[in-house]
Amino acid sequence: MPDTITITDDRTGKTVTVPIEGGVFSSSALRELDPSLFMYDPAYMSTAATQSAITYLDGTNGVLRYRGYPIEQLAEKSTYLEVAYLLMNGDLPDTTQLDQWTHDVTHHTFIHENMRKRFVDGFHYNAHPMGMFVSAVAALGTFYDGAKNIEDPVSRNHQVLRLIAKAPTIAAMCYRFSVGLPFNMPDNDLSYSANFLNMMWKIGENYEVDPRLERAMDILFILHADHEQNCGTTAMRVIGSSHADPYSSAAGAASALYGPRHGGANEAVIRMLTEIGSIDDVPAFVESVKKGEGRLMGFGHRVYKNFDPRATIIKKAAYDVFDVTGKSPLLDIALKLEEVALSDPYFIERKLYPNVDFYSGLIYQALRFPTEMFTVLFAIPRMSGWLAHWDELLVEGQKISRPRQWYTGADERDYVDLTDR
Ligand code: CMC
Repeated sequence: MPDTITITDDRTGKTVTVPIEGGVFSSSALRELDPSLFMYDPAYMSTAATQSAITYLDGTNGVLRYRGYPIEQLAEKSTYLEVAYLLMNGDLPDTTQLDQWTHDVTHHTFIHENMRKRFVDGFHYNAHPMGMFVSAVAALGTFYDGAKNIEDPVSRNHQVLRLIAKAPTIAAMCYRFSVGLPFNMPDNDLSYSANFLNMMWKIGENYEVDPRLERAMDILFILHADHEQNCGTTAMRVIGSSHADPYSSAAGAASALYGPRHGGANEAVIRMLTEIGSIDDVPAFVESVKKGEGRLMGFGHRVYKNFDPRATIIKKAAYDVFDVTGKSPLLDIALKLEEVALSDPYFIERKLYPNVDFYSGLIYQALRFPTEMFTVLFAIPRMSGWLAHWDELLVEGQKISRPRQWYTGADERDYVDLTDR
């Protein structure tokens, strides 16, 4: 069977035959039939918007790999910083490379004092930490002359190190501001995850990060590091393709992540479980979802139509965390909800399964993070994924993103004076 597709324009009888590679064919071939012909694909449901060698995702079989490595192996054996290196550079580092990378990231964790004293202190006292995070990432770029020097790989690498290193610092700073606590400086003797937990929770001298919670945090960071062309990463690529600096691009990606249908879902899950209130009320809630009165947050995925491999790993990690912190009171409701939904034809027919956000919120809550911080916790590790895609598109010299539209508005008409309308 030939690996081609033949398209005929029935209006003209013209035909074009295009190769299919990796399940994809180039839609630009349509232009050979008629230069004014475009594909209509709102929300990119069946469009591959780019080539990418970073993350492989097979939604039917629940497969997720970073640079070829299965997510299960990375979650078990790797660390977030090693995964960030892998995403950026394409291969796992050797010992020297990992030491250098860890040193470089660790020595960029501090942020300019004006960021904290003038910028962050200017927020309203009850500002949402994710809104603060988005703005702070954009503002950070204004502190570095080289930020716009995106053609230079050395400068690009410098900005990458800064953004990966400073994301937890900004996140912790936003949180501490929102609860009126003094900011903790980064401690460069700690691991990436332990440093973040330390900046978040240390009050006085007696705080020590529990290594089991440090590991759980690292696993969550690994699982969230990349997810190919999701909404936020697409935003990163679209903005990056205009050659905006990486800070502005990452702020745009973080804004996309903020929405409840994307990274904001974990926050919505906790709200939903709290509203349900008890196991007995789960069936009634599921019925209301089926009537279209709301969505089951943490369920369903645009790509995974069988299971989300991240959800499986996270469910196990949740129990490891509960061993240290005690069980979340919402866990029983979540388990019951999962059980009811997974046996209900409505969810089975629509292939709706728990996604990464269904259990991550419960872990975050057990780790004492307020719900407003959940999306920020997603954004910290996703920074490395966003930057890997940004770097890839620049190296490959991708053109500026500029989709076309299907115009459905009024035909040409003459302006009518105000008095005649
Ligand atoms: N609860 C109830 N019904 C749902 C849900 C849900 N969570 N998700 C989809 N459906 C139904 C939807 O109503 C539709 O039914 P019908 O065919 O009768 O109209 C059908 O399933 C298909 O839904 P869709 O909206 O066309 O699917 P989509 O691929 O556009 O949406 C989604 C994917 C993730 C936005 C959606 O499943 C959703 O809103 N889930 C809840 C929010 C959530 O958990 N988001 C986190 C995604 S994972 C983290 C990430 O990677 O960002």
